[in-house]
Amino acid sequence: MFQSDSATFIAGYPLKAHNTFGFDVRAQFACRIEREAQLMAAVRDPRAAGLPRLVLGGGSNIVLTGDVGGLVLLVALQGRRLVREDNDAWYVEAAAGEPWHDFVAWTLAQGLPGLENLALIPGTVGAAPIQNIGAYGLEMCERFASLRAVELATGEAVELDATACRFGYRDSFFKREGRDRFVITSVTFRLPKVWTPRAGYADIARELAASGQGDARPTARAIFDAVVAVRRAKLPDPLQLGNAGSFFKNPVVEVAQFEALKAQEPELVSYPQPDGRVKLAAGWLIDRCGWKGRAMGAAAVHERQALVLVNRGGASGAEVLALARAIQEDVLTRFGVELDAEPVCL
Ligand code: EPU
Repeated sequence: MFQSDSATFIAGYPLKAHNTFGFDVRAQFACRIEREAQLMAAVRDPRAAGLPRLVLGGGSNIVLTGDVGGLVLLVALQGRRLVREDNDAWYVEAAAGEPWHDFVAWTLAQGLPGLENLALIPGTVGAAPIQNIGAYGLEMCERFASLRAVELATGEAVELDATACRFGYRDSFFKREGRDRFVITSVTFRLPKVWTPRAGYADIARELAASGQGDARPTARAIFDAVVAVRRAKLPDPLQLGNAGSFFKNPVVEVAQFEALKAQEPELVSYPQPDGRVKLAAGWLIDRCGWKGRAMGAAAVHERQALVLVNRGGASGAEVLALARAIQEDVLTRFGVELDAEPVCL
């Protein structure tokens, strides 16, 4: 163990509790970041110079296939507050290490609706912009105002707006040109004062109807509760069954390919896109290939949602990737559709 001014580097640090798949791997060095100054110190420390760096928040969107060489920055920055309001919106800021779901619950408890559709998504606030988390008819970018990040090369803090973040479906600047260049330290959300429920997603509408709220305009709390109920019913809790949420993105295909597939598979689940192309439900394609509930070693396809790969206990990242590849090959052979992995694979 060696120390810099305010950052402590720990050698051989176990990462099992820091990735939601629960892979039992270690970091060459790890440094827990509780204050932005520690991050600056760690980044500028000459002993860290030249080492590869990996930023981990909740580790909810990553597949670690082996021990991680270099320095792992464990972002544990805490804090959340209402920073300001104008006539149209409230602006709330949360530090990157805050658990996402707790933050969503806190905004509702403050009487600030707008994030309820994104309840129960695993991971931290700092991870949310990286893959532009989304669920049940809402993407994070629709509530995003700006973020603060530290540039690893310089140790300088920068402020980035939505344009700079280049959000797309499960995508952002931080998965492309910005990859491994920045550590997000806090995110500010814009929650419009005129709130409109997003309750159109079939599972949510069904859940609201089942709880007797199908007809009335639902409250943000009712949507939050419905989302929590639907997620609990379909998606495994990473604390009980290691997983990283959807393992594949829903693929987007050209209309001609969609029409050919639809003729072959009349039940194909699809969503027309604004650009004229068609998004397909990857879970449906995988399910249709017979993969739901199947295992390869200790890696398996979840029994209630084929888009989620799980660690049944003791699986390695390599085993999960082997399962993912077998699924990708089957879907490509049967439907001619390529599935892209959603988590970052290391
Ligand atoms: N389906 C099946 N079999 C399955 C899974 C799905 O037939 O095993 C069918 C469903 O019946 C439904 C369709 O496929 O008709 C879509 O399924 P679902 O509503 O469960 O959503 P999804 O497209 O599979 C996406 C997100 C989820 C998000 C839900 C709800 C992606 C990659 N995944 O899943 O996000 O919670 O919609 O909005 O976009 C995540 O990113 O980690 C995640 C969980």
